[in-house]
Parts: sequence; structure tokens; C-alpha cells
Amino acid sequence: MWRAISEVGRDPGGGYTRDAWSPPDLELREWFRQEAARRGLDAHEDRNGNMWAWWGDPDTPGGGVVTGSHLDSVRQGGAYDGPLGVVSAFAALDDLRARGVRPRRPVAVACFTDEEGARFGVPCIGSRLLTGALDPGRARALTGDDGGTLAEAMRAAGRDPGGLGRDETTLRRVGVFVELHVEQGRALVHEEAPVGVGRAIWPHGRWRLEFRGRADHAGTTRLADRDDPMLPFAETVLAAREAARRHGVVATVGKVRVRPGSANAIPGRVTAWLDARGPEEGPVRALVAELAPRAAEVACESWTPLVEFDPALRDRLAAALGGVPVLPTGAGHDAGVLASAGVPSAMVYVRNPTGISHSPEEHAEPDDCRAGVAALARVVEELCT
Ligand code: GLV
Ligand code: MN
Ligand code: MN
Repeated sequence: MWRAISEVGRDPGGGYTRDAWSPPDLELREWFRQEAARRGLDAHEDRNGNMWAWWGDPDTPGGGVVTGSHLDSVRQGGAYDGPLGVVSAFAALDDLRARGVRPRRPVAVACFTDEEGARFGVPCIGSRLLTGALDPGRARALTGDDGGTLAEAMRAAGRDPGGLGRDETTLRRVGVFVELHVEQGRALVHEEAPVGVGRAIWPHGRWRLEFRGRADHAGTTRLADRDDPMLPFAETVLAAREAARRHGVVATVGKVRVRPGSANAIPGRVTAWLDARGPEEGPVRALVAELAPRAAEVACESWTPLVEFDPALRDRLAAALGGVPVLPTGAGHDAGVLASAGVPSAMVYVRNPTGISHSPEEHAEPDDCRAGVAALARVVEELCT
């Protein structure tokens, strides 16, 4: 499975760039369909663009055991964030079937659309639309860096954006969701454990900050006559770092747009995106409130409150895996969105030797990936029999 997708969306700058609804994303969707078909499963896309491959009748009362993740990536991201969960889901299903396990509930492999929010700014678009956490009108109008909207991107991919929105029928089918994911940190390295289980997801959000000034000539405008928005922007980045340290949270400015963007022009406008997260909501909010007055305009583009995974489910899975570590994380996931919507959800993490993620250097050793598949198979078996 890894070989089949290893060249899809390779970025000449390193790693993978697999924007939602881009040609690489469409190729990966086709791969998903083929993997489902090879196993005699019927893959279908729901009206929000999420993909499902069911083993058994999805409309069984009480819903089924769903496992999976996403196939889109951040720009120049790693191979594992997302695909590891989808590949492992298919492999775990193969393992159950090879061992002759007879599920009493249906089982599905799922792939959520646009988890990273790399193209349209809002993360977990597919799961948020499914649960109703994202307004479909707002989703359709989300605009990417190329100026095109999500609705246009879907239409270009042959999909109907008119169907976006909460999908009761699909949601009812998800009795329980388990997402396997590469760890985005080094806790499992310190614990000397190949796999772990999720405890919680930190509250996190993204804010757009606008800095306005006056574009002018870089050579002829005296320093005293300038109104350069790059200066308050730069001060804000430094202030964010300092405030994050003081509040015990993390804050990142990873995306900036400068207009007009000429080396020989003082900018007229700088737009920056602040990502802030922490173990508790209060300090994250306090950091944003502190920085807000520095910008001419601040808009919250997404917010995800603290997610505590179902403690009974989490403990049951950790016990089924022989008492593996239980970890919190600062990374967002579709499992968190589903948990917030009341779907019993859990996560299984696979050790990452450097902890690096959202980077071409993201890695997991083959033996740990196999341990992840075995753990996922054990967990799905525990839940479906
Ligand atoms: C998703 O990977 C996120 O945490 O931003
Ligand atoms: Mn990610
Ligand atoms: Mn992910």
C-alpha cells in the first residue's frame, strides 16, 4: 500500500503536498476506492467528501466500528500524518479477516476530507461538516491562496458542494471511531513503547491578523515618512513567543502574506496567521487577547475546545493493549471533532523516533508501524466482537 502512494503529491521542495481536492488528493481517493474494491468492500463518498468502505451492513442499529484517518497533508508534510491511519486500517481489517474473526457489528475504514486545512484555512473540514460543527455556507465560501473557493474546488473535482452539511445518516453509522496516528512528539520514545492511546487533545485555534500601512517606494521614502505594516507584524511575532512562554502555551506564525510583495516596495498590508494551543483554554485565550490590539483586525478562523477522549473506552483499549501509555497531544484530529459531537472516539499513536511532524522528516519505523497495525486490529476486534 505504501508503495502505491509513495509518489503521489511529492513536493519538489521535499515531502508531500496533498491539498484537498487537488490532483494528488483525487489520486489518493482513487487509491482508497481500489483498496476497498480489492477487499470486496464498497467504497463511497458521502456528500461532504469523506470516504467510507464498509465490511457488513452500515445501517445495523447502534452503528459500526469505524477506523481510519485522512489522506491530505500540510504543504511539504511527511508521509505518515494521515496515511498511516488509513493504511493501518486496511491492514488491520486484513488481519481480522485472515484470523477468521466474525464481527458482530459492521466495521469500516474511513478517510476524512481536508483534515489539515492547508488549502482553505479551516482544519477537519470533512468531520466538522459531517457533525454540523462547520456551517455549510461558510465552508462553501472558504477561499484558498489561489483565490478559488471550496465550492469551486469541489465542482472542478466533479462534486456537488450543494450537499455539504450535517449528515445524520452517515453519522448514525459511526458507533465508535478509532483513529491511528503517527505520534507528533516523543512521549513514546521516552516511555520506550511502540504504541500508546490518546487521553486528550489540547484546545487550539487559528486567528488571521491584518496589519495595514501604506505601500510606497523602498528607495525614495524617508524612514520618518513610512507607514510600514511589517514592523508591527514583526513585533507581534516576537510578542507571541514571549506571551506563549509566560502563559505556558505554544504560539506559531507559520503563514504570512505580504502585499504587494515586492522587494523594492514598502508593504501596504501584511496578513499573518497565528496558531495557538495549550493544555487549557484560558491561557490560550489570554494570549490571543493580549496580541489582538497589535493588529488592525483579528478574525478567529477556527477553534477547537479541549477534547477528553471517553475515559472508559480509552482505558478499555489501553488494557486490551496490555497497559500501553495514555497521552495528551497538542495536535488536532478528526477523532477530536467526532468526540466533541458525542461519538465515542479513541486514538492509537505509533512511536515517532524524532517526534518531528508536519515536515518531510516525519518518520516511523516499519516494526513500530506493524505494532500499530497489530494494536489497531486488537482494538477493532475488542470493539466489534
Ligand atoms: C493538524 O495536524 C493540526 O494539529 O494542525
Ligand atoms: Mn497534521
Ligand atoms: Mn493527521
